[in-house]
Amino acid sequence: MNNIQKTLSIIKPDAVERNLENEIKEMFLKKGFHILREKKIHIEKSEAEKFYKVHETKPFYNDLCSYLSSGPIVVMILQKDNAVLANRNLMGATNPKDALDGTIRKKYGISIDKNSVHGSDSPENAQIEIDFFFKD
Ligand code: CMP
Repeated sequence: MNNIQKTLSIIKPDAVERNLENEIKEMFLKKGFHILREKKIHIEKSEAEKFYKVHETKPFYNDLCSYLSSGPIVVMILQKDNAVLANRNLMGATNPKDALDGTIRKKYGISIDKNSVHGSDSPENAQIEIDFFFKD
């Protein structure tokens, strides 16, 4: 049975800064994702704080929000069968050191903070994160 889902993907400042946008998009397309919408934006720290609110009690929250708002990012709605899990598999482990060969974070991630991409962790959060960036 097909289970077509949407998920939110962010190409983070470290990857945009290194001009990896097209290479990363190519990795999504090769895996059969459709990019339904995309935009390049530079968000305020206050918006990053709202986006990452689930992490507000974590010790890395402040640095994480400063980082996400430190430069341009590309936000995308991806669609595919089981997109949420497929995207997490393609991204690889949060810490690039632990990411498997063939994943985006293994190939391009620099550190646990500068790990090049974000992806929603559940279909429920995917909808919340999509609405956050694409309200219309
Ligand atoms: P992301 O998938 O965007 O979700 C939250 C981010 O917090 C995560 O990727 C990491 O880049 C960042 N982060 C920094 N430190 C940690 C940590 N110790 N554990 C998990 N995530 C961390």
